[in-house]
Amino acid sequence: MRMDFLTLFPDMFPGVLGSSILKRAEEKEAVSFYVHNIRDFSKDKHKKVDDYPYGGGAGMVLTPQPVFDACEFVMQQTPASVSPRIILLCPQGKPYKQRDAEMLSKEEHLIFICGHYEGYDERIREHLVTDEFSIGDYVLTGGELGALVIADSVTRLLPNVLGNESSHRHDSFSDGLLEYPQYTRPADFRGWKVPDVLLSGHHEKIAQWRKEQALLRTKKRRPDLLQKKEKE
Ligand code: ADE
Repeated sequence: MRMDFLTLFPDMFPGVLGSSILKRAEEKEAVSFYVHNIRDFSKDKHKKVDDYPYGGGAGMVLTPQPVFDACEFVMQQTPASVSPRIILLCPQGKPYKQRDAEMLSKEEHLIFICGHYEGYDERIREHLVTDEFSIGDYVLTGGELGALVIADSVTRLLPNVLGNESSHRHDSFSDGLLEYPQYTRPADFRGWKVPDVLLSGHHEKIAQWRKEQALLRTKKRRPDLLQKKEKE
């Protein structure tokens, strides 16, 4: 998979894309990351990328020209047979969920548009973007963190990225439940003991306990997930 990030703050990316599992995924050629500065595509003589909103009001709006040009530059570098998903990050977008990560992990090419300022010229949404996502009901200073959240959650689902292929099948959310409690050595830490069942070696009982715990935890912490599961 290829991922391109269009941003005004390219320095926000190398630390995340160059560490841990994302770094390893790129080394294994499961994914390639490219970061582009939207300002480099501005045709304005001062490299301006924003302007005042028509009709007045506070703040600045990202102009369409550099965003369209940056996106078209990226698309020229990729085979015409691949239609990329062009993803806009904004608080008004569809709330991003694990099922969106699963859907995006099946694509060949993702382009993320990360805006700052008060907003995007609406023609970017209407004539360029294929998906708009929000990563939560709060306002960030820009779309970069959202794009990185999506890139991270998608990359770990790509084939051969996680060592143990089954390790994302048990993720919180992938079956609609939160994950069960995990323990490692020692069996007794400061008098706090690991539940006996986990030391029993009885695989069926362990599986049953984990299922119950996942359900209990979800009931207590995220009852909304259970209601959604019932409706499905
Ligand atoms: N940009 C600003 N706030 C955002 C959010 N909550 N999700 C995605 N992009 C954003």
